[in-house]
Amino acid sequence: MLNRREWLKAGALFPVGLGRAFAQAEEQPLRSHAAARGLLFGAAAGWPVLRDDPVYASHFAAECGILVPENVLKMGPVHPEPERYNFAPADFMADFCAKNRMVMRGHTLLWHSQPWPWLKTAVNPGNARQYMEDHIRTVAGRYKGRMHSWDVVNEAVLPTDGREDGLRKTAWLEMLGPDYVEMAFRFAQEADPKAMLCYNDFGVDYDTPEQEAKRAAILKLLRRLLERKTPLHAFGMQAHLNAANQKNINAETLRRFFGEIAGLGLKILITELDVIDRSLPDDIDERDKGIAAVYESYLTAALREPAVIAVLTWGLTDRYTWLASRNRRESGTPLRVLPLDREYGRKPAWRAMARAFDSRRA
Ligand code: XIL
Repeated sequence: MLNRREWLKAGALFPVGLGRAFAQAEEQPLRSHAAARGLLFGAAAGWPVLRDDPVYASHFAAECGILVPENVLKMGPVHPEPERYNFAPADFMADFCAKNRMVMRGHTLLWHSQPWPWLKTAVNPGNARQYMEDHIRTVAGRYKGRMHSWDVVNEAVLPTDGREDGLRKTAWLEMLGPDYVEMAFRFAQEADPKAMLCYNDFGVDYDTPEQEAKRAAILKLLRRLLERKTPLHAFGMQAHLNAANQKNINAETLRRFFGEIAGLGLKILITELDVIDRSLPDDIDERDKGIAAVYESYLTAALREPAVIAVLTWGLTDRYTWLASRNRRESGTPLRVLPLDREYGRKPAWRAMARAFDSRRA
């Protein structure tokens, strides 16, 4: 880990990017605002655009101190056939990080979504544990010593599935029982003993009864894992927000949840922050103001907890966001959900994030 002075230096040394970034050169990038307060800022990187779009890549390198591949390390993409792995995209990203002096996180070793395409045909209760072990050893092992952190298990909790323990009903649960979560963490630690091992989940940002139930179920899982001495080091809070739910952000609720996690001795990472803008008007100034207000109020509340060590947005620029296909605006106007606009201009959301970082107690 770099110390604060080294981070500041790394931030100042960075190439400023192309185009509009020149006009913005006098202002420090988000990675520096974050580093000055002992935080990491970064984003999910798209493939193959990181390789094929140099303007995007240069802005990514300028703003981010940490990169997470958006898709290429998930089970299906990285392991398309039982005997074949596809590491080229993630290898490119690992090199990109090394060249640009940023750290990398891995996402994700075990998840019910985007699974191996061969899961249903080849995997059964008799061989599931072995396949899981091989996968985690191979994938986490390849990047051994090079990952800042790994989302070992993603989205394993879903109280509305009706189980007493709050676990989501997935193929892994069905084949291996509830201990599959712990198993994954143990394999990950053996494969990469230095990486920070995270449990990552969504839908726990708001002060609503459903989300309160999910917070309780997640805390129960984290406690159980720690009681069993599972190598678990951090909680990843996805934080996919929606401007329509702004009224449900409650600083006290977040403080309590984060306080409980910190009390268990765990760190916290905000891993996938973005803000759906469907409920906001088409007018760009008004929309940007509304989005910025969500980023600022959420982050200001979240960053009060000293255990929060990193903030990553799910994408960096409105040019490339997964929400474009899933959360189209009724009018069809392009989304404005991330800190940089489609031309890499810094939006009010960027400034809101910088202010939230600046106002954190170092
Ligand atoms: C999303 C990607 O952004 C999309 O490109 C893909 O089609 C589906 O997955 N929670 C997660 C991420 O943990 O892996 C998801 O990423 C977004 C929700």
